[in-house]
Amino acid sequence: MQPILEMRGITKTFPGVKALTEVNLSVMPAEIHAVVGENGAGKSTLMKVLSGVYPAGSYDGSIHFEGEERQFRTIADSEGVGIIIIHQELALVPLLSIAENIFLGHETARRGVIDWYEAFARTKELLAKVGLREHPNTLITNMGTGKQQLVEIAKALNKKVKLLILDEPTSSLNETRSRCAARPAAARRNRAYRRS
Ligand SMILES: Nc1ncnc2c1ncn2[C@@H]1O[C@H](COP(=O)(O)OP(=O)(O)OP(=O)(O)O)[C@@H](O)[C@H]1O
Ligand SMILES: [Mg+2]
Repeated sequence: MQPILEMRGITKTFPGVKALTEVNLSVMPAEIHAVVGENGAGKSTLMKVLSGVYPAGSYDGSIHFEGEERQFRTIADSEGVGIIIIHQELALVPLLSIAENIFLGHETARRGVIDWYEAFARTKELLAKVGLREHPNTLITNMGTGKQQLVEIAKALNKKVKLLILDEPTSSLNETRSRCAARPAAARRNRAYRRS
C-alpha cells in the first residue's frame, strides 16, 4: 500500500524565522497521526503548507498526495482533492446561522435560488453525526466555543474529505470545557451533582 500523503523536505522561512527545516511526514490511508511540539515548533505552519494557505513556491520541498506531486496555490486547490483543514483559530461567521456557515461558499441552488430546504436537511444530518443537538437556524454567536468547534467539524464533513486536519481543536476551549469535551458522561454527572 502506498501513503496517501507524503511531505518531503519541507522548509519554510518567514522574515527572520526558519519555521520548518527539512520536515518529512508520511501518512498511510486510514492512519491517524498526532503532530506534537511546543508553542512555535511549526505545527500550524506545516499544516498551512499542506493545505495551500502558504502556496507552492513559498516553501522548499514537495507534497505528494495519492501518488501525485501537488502544487496547491490556494485552499480551494487542496480542498479540491479532499484535504480539509480546521484551523486553530475558529473561522465561523458569528452572525450567520449554523446552516449558513456550513454552506457558505458551497450553497446549493435550484434555478438560481439557494435551496435552504436542502441545506437545512443536510445540516440536521451533519449535526447528528457530530452529536450536536442544535437547530440549523441557531446563530453561531449564541453558542459556546466547544459547540462552535463541532460546527467546524460538521462543516468539514460536508466536503469530500479524504484527509482531515484538526489544528489543535481544543486550544480555543478553556480547561473545564476541554475536560467536558473529552468526558461528556462524566461532565453530565458533575453538572447534575452541582445542581443537587
Ligand atoms: N505569518 C508568520 N509570520 C512570521 N512568523 C511566523 C508566521 N507564522 C508563524 N511564524 C513563526 O513560525 C514559527 C512556527 O509557528 P507555528 O504557528 O507554526 O507554531 P505552532 O507549532 O503551531 O505553535 P502553537 O502550538 O503555538 O500553535 C514560530 O516561531 C512563529 O512565530
Ligand atoms: Mg499552531
